[in-house]
Amino acid sequence: MPTFDVSVVGELNLDLILSGLPPTIELDREHLAKDLTITLGSSSAIFAHNLALLGNRVGFSSAIGSDRLGEICLERLGESGVDLSRVRRFAGKLTGLTVILPQQTKRYILTYPGTMFEMKFEDLDLEYVFSAKHFHLSSYFLQRALRPRIAELFREAKRAGLTTSLDTNDDPDDAWGEDLLQFLQYVDVLLPNEQEACRMARKNNPDEAAEFLSAKVPLVVIKRGAKGVVARRGGKAFHAMPQKAEAVDSVGAGDSFDAGFLHKFVRGAGIEECLAYGNLTGALSVTRAGGTEAFRDASHRQHFLANRA
Ligand SMILES: Nc1ncnc2c1ncn2[C@@H]1O[C@H](COP(=O)(O)OP(=O)(O)O)[C@@H](O)[C@H]1O
Ligand SMILES: [Mg+2]
Repeated sequence: MPTFDVSVVGELNLDLILSGLPPTIELDREHLAKDLTITLGSSSAIFAHNLALLGNRVGFSSAIGSDRLGEICLERLGESGVDLSRVRRFAGKLTGLTVILPQQTKRYILTYPGTMFEMKFEDLDLEYVFSAKHFHLSSYFLQRALRPRIAELFREAKRAGLTTSLDTNDDPDDAWGEDLLQFLQYVDVLLPNEQEACRMARKNNPDEAAEFLSAKVPLVVIKRGAKGVVARRGGKAFHAMPQKAEAVDSVGAGDSFDAGFLHKFVRGAGIEECLAYGNLTGALSVTRAGGTEAFRDASHRQHFLANRA
């Protein structure tokens, strides 16, 4: 029996969300926000947190600095039940931080990477990483020190008998290097959003991107925000409509979708059921500011999931 349902390798930091700012932000002026949310951020941590609260045993390999922000991250993530025994503290380093400024339906995202750029392959306890049924990595481009060996990590995960998934998220450099396409052979489920799918496949529309990517991975799932999701397995396409939700903020929707989808996937569910549950948990996520707030509120979470299942 593996120790974990899902093993996650990735970054851990807080998000600071200043909502209700004026529509135009000018230099040298003081702008007042109507609301402030300080919450668990980072794709990997949001994914792990929400997956644990859906009822999974989750192992988390990551790094924080030797600062107070890192401690707050650990407290928050720990509340979900994620195993934190392999989160390293790098002495004298700063934990990363993201400042989010929502503007109507879009948002400014400003990140100081801190320790997310520092964790290396050698920092991982591989026996721990692979003692799971499934391996997931998100924010490929933010794992700067790990990136040269991420292909190896996926290859070894497959060799150890795990199924694997990848959500690259955005490339801040917008370069979408070829190294990514080369290791897709070790990825079972690829989970980009529409824009990311087009960028990594170098195609102009999501259908062409899905066709290109599905030649490289067994299952491609492309997230389309409030439009739901499309997936492709071999030559077969699947569409799943979104769940209705009163959307407050879409931070972490993609990671929450991944959590719901993989919750079903690791239990051997069919693709339609995985997609429907991903849409449900993605929709839950947008009902509160930040990526984990809707999941942390147990009665809200249970009510939302039960009433729409
Ligand atoms: N306004 C919304 N209403 C309902 N579901 C949503 C909404 N926005 C996002 N979702 C759900 O969350 C998923 C991921 O959102 P998306 O914004 O595409 O991902 P990412 O956060 O990675 O960019 C969508 O596929 C959908 O299931
Ligand atoms: Mg995403």
